[in-house]
Amino acid sequence: MTDNSLPATKMSARDVHVYYGATHAIKGVSIDVDQENVTAFIGPSGCGKSTFLRTLNRMNDTIPIARVEGDITLDGENIYSPAMDVVQLRARVGMVFQKPNPFPKSIYENVAYGPRIHGLAPVKSDMDRVVEQSLRRAGLWEEVKDRLHDSGTALSGGQQQRLCIARAIAVDPEVILMDEPCSALDPIATAKIEELIHELRGRYAIVIVTHNMQQAARVSQRTAFFHLGHLVEYGVTSDIFTNPRQERTKDYITGRYG
Ligand SMILES: Nc1ncnc2c1ncn2[C@@H]1O[C@H](COP(=O)(O)OP(=O)(O)O)[C@@H](O)[C@H]1O
Ligand SMILES: [Mg+2]
Repeated sequence: MTDNSLPATKMSARDVHVYYGATHAIKGVSIDVDQENVTAFIGPSGCGKSTFLRTLNRMNDTIPIARVEGDITLDGENIYSPAMDVVQLRARVGMVFQKPNPFPKSIYENVAYGPRIHGLAPVKSDMDRVVEQSLRRAGLWEEVKDRLHDSGTALSGGQQQRLCIARAIAVDPEVILMDEPCSALDPIATAKIEELIHELRGRYAIVIVTHNMQQAARVSQRTAFFHLGHLVEYGVTSDIFTNPRQERTKDYITGRYG
């Protein structure tokens, strides 16, 4: 393979360990996250998927007993460097959580909040444009354009999750991390989020944690299988599901545990 056929790496982790007090939750994980591909993290409950995902935008900093070791870079820049502005980092590497968590504010204000604190759209007309574009990209604009000043919490669960995606998009991120974003949603709302992930691919590097293997197969091009804090196997999604190299991966995807 020549160099230019390799996908561009957006984030790299090298020998990452995470501890919660004495609990060793992540054990020497190294992975490259591509710019162009959707990466899925799969594995049984408690294996460290959320913990590792949170290392990618330093959300573990908010857990006092959590300690992270190893190197993680974003475009080659060490995100754990003391020079890194963590607020800025979390705008560049946005996050969408398991339970939709809109602010108890209007739909408009949910999306405008980030750009406002980052000073991205000082003029009202600019802000209107950012809000519209973010809601469009999140596939929500048509459903809410006539009620932008209604509360975000009055939306359906699936709409709330797309609002949270719009909120992440509004600050012009480079990477979007999603931690089981569909686990609280019905099948129709889930299908909409999956379709949205396809549309967002390429514009943002996307990492999605899912315990649903069919979902990983549908939405991702790269899959990482975690087990007991280790990254057991990482590769092209179709290979992981049809031709895994590791016995533990095979046992998991064939449903022998999990
Ligand atoms: N805030 C926390 N404090 C202490 N231990 C935690 C915390 N979050 C996760 N853990 C532990 O870290 C391990 C990995 O958990 P987690 O990353 O949530 O796994 P997953 O997302 O794969 O279900 C588990 O043993 C879990 O109990
Ligand atoms: Mg989790």
